[in-house]
Amino acid sequence: MIEKMKEQFEEFKIKIAASVDESEVLNLKGQVMGKDSAISQAMKSMKDISIEEKKVIGPLANQIKQDIFNLIQARLEELEWKKINDKLSKNKMDISYLDSISTNQNRIGSYHPVNIVQDRIEDIFLSMGFEVLDGPHIEDEFHNFEALNIPADHPARDMQDTFWFKEKNGEKRLLRTHTSTIQVRGMMEREAPFRFIAPGKVFRCERTDASHEMVFHQLEGMYVDKNVTVGNLIYFMKTLLSEIFEKAVDVRLRPGFFPFVEPGFELDIKCLICSGKGCSVCKQVGWVELLPCGMVHPNVLKAGGVDPEEYNGFAFGLGLDRLVMMKYGIDDVRHIHGADLRFLEQFINQ
Ligand code: PHE
Repeated sequence: MIEKMKEQFEEFKIKIAASVDESEVLNLKGQVMGKDSAISQAMKSMKDISIEEKKVIGPLANQIKQDIFNLIQARLEELEWKKINDKLSKNKMDISYLDSISTNQNRIGSYHPVNIVQDRIEDIFLSMGFEVLDGPHIEDEFHNFEALNIPADHPARDMQDTFWFKEKNGEKRLLRTHTSTIQVRGMMEREAPFRFIAPGKVFRCERTDASHEMVFHQLEGMYVDKNVTVGNLIYFMKTLLSEIFEKAVDVRLRPGFFPFVEPGFELDIKCLICSGKGCSVCKQVGWVELLPCGMVHPNVLKAGGVDPEEYNGFAFGLGLDRLVMMKYGIDDVRHIHGADLRFLEQFINQ
């Protein structure tokens, strides 16, 4: 029995050294340790043999078993390394390769035009003492409507086609339709007087065309203090526009209805794409709605924890994409989300 064990072990040593993969190693293990192997037979016979024999066969069998395990372990590791080395030698990478593709040569990134203009506006307002705030895209009815003087069932809710989420535990959630939600959060988080702007993406369930997108950018602004007037509002809006366009632009102020301001205005600028002649961006009227604004409604101040007897203020909701279009002469809002490199590369030096 001892001879048989040794013989099988020697055979195993030769075979495992020549094995080529893991499954072969496991097969060999099965042969040398399996039911019919000399080792198994020896272990099984332990109960029938004399103590003297046990003293010899027992330790020897255990030793051989231990050796087999060690050999298997070592061989598996060797094979794993061999696999890795083979792979590495086959998949050599030429790191100078990318350089040689001429179309990618000297291709560098650029800021998105919306970011360029947004940064510029943030700088202008920061220099006038405003804070820059942010807020969540997913909102509730309170921040998007109720606190802005648009109660449930008010027809003004239909002014903005809303993307609603499935109701969960009786709570209705939506994608914010305007950055005025940040006005509400901004008011509630601070004590008057304050002034801030809030740029961000907004979402409307609308059909897209040259001047409408489902996702677009607004830049909300709010100024609350004692004795604020429409004159202050117009001053800030004019400063903003002349800094952005770096030239005089024709503007006009029309009455506009928004439940959260009273009085409310629409500030339009003469279309810079067609110089007022009429095109697809200004829908042939020569003017583009750019800056809805107004004096904050007392109900909105109240909802934001501001006493309307003591304070008042103005708010505006700049259409950032339209401003970008006017500044750079872009004739279709859909380019802004298009991620077309030929479009984006035009802004590298801006
Ligand atoms: N939130 C309004 C809109 O998206 C714009 C606006 C903001 C109007 C602030 C007036 C004052 O339509």
